Amino acid sequence: MREPLRGPAAAVVRRAHAKINVFLRVLGRREDGYHDIESLVVPVSLVDTITLRPIEDGARWVVTSGPAAEGVPEGDDNLALQAAEALARRCGTSRGALIEIHKRIPVAAGLGGGSADAAATLLGLNDLWRCRLALEELSEVGAGIGSDVPALLREGPVLIEGRGERVRPVPVTRMWWVLHPQRFPVSTPDAYRWWDEDPGTTGPDPAPVIEAAARGSAEELGPLLFDDLEPGVVRRHPQVARARERLLGAGALGVVMSGSGPTVAALAGDESQAREISRALPGTIAVAAPP
Ligand code: C5P
Repeated sequence: MREPLRGPAAAVVRRAHAKINVFLRVLGRREDGYHDIESLVVPVSLVDTITLRPIEDGARWVVTSGPAAEGVPEGDDNLALQAAEALARRCGTSRGALIEIHKRIPVAAGLGGGSADAAATLLGLNDLWRCRLALEELSEVGAGIGSDVPALLREGPVLIEGRGERVRPVPVTRMWWVLHPQRFPVSTPDAYRWWDEDPGTTGPDPAPVIEAAARGSAEELGPLLFDDLEPGVVRRHPQVARARERLLGAGALGVVMSGSGPTVAALAGDESQAREISRALPGTIAVAAPP
């Protein structure tokens, strides 16, 4: 292990926020194998913490710790490391970094954890290495790492289009949600493939759900939540439907799978109701979105 520089000015620390998809509309499969989608992506208060330390000899390393670190790769498959390498190429630097990831966001859960770590790494190393790339340029680098990275670089609610690279900040009033992670992972390519195979449907015009989220009306928003990837995942993993029923039974105003799943997100009326639902259902997490 290389010895990182120490001292208060040497490290950059960033929070990498998980996200939920308030709605996710799949428009169709493209020639390149990706799918054109529309989605409202909102960061939540569940975070990984990323600490970036300069390394003198130019090496780039990832180390992981924390309650959700199990199974997170520390080698070339790690999205934060891929982001660091891609940024170094784009900015033409030979500087190194030790990337410490304290992992709390469940992996392969539909919460964008790996992409959030990559986005935080791009933002942090852009400072640490003094690359001075604009957000648009970071976004281009990020799109090559994962479809959620451009959205998570914005660190606020966004509407995404295309395969996720077209990003527009939108107002969303802070509301309280309960996340119900599952004990099994779902891979993003599988969730999209199941949409192709079933075949999946395309949800309604999202204007009403976007407006309800902007107004912050949980009563209005609850029944409007949807995710076109959810039926395909539920068909293969009925636990997702059971989680949905448990959350509604505990008083949630609406429930939706997040992204490619399998985490289920339930909308609560306020913070105290979110905490009450979370207490009633062990293993769930009350979060604010946006944080
Ligand atoms: O970009 P990312 O690595 O997150 O995507 C993983 C996989 O998920 C892609 O290779 C593709 O199979 C699928 N995907 C898709 N359409 C999107 C995003 C992801 O088909 N908009």
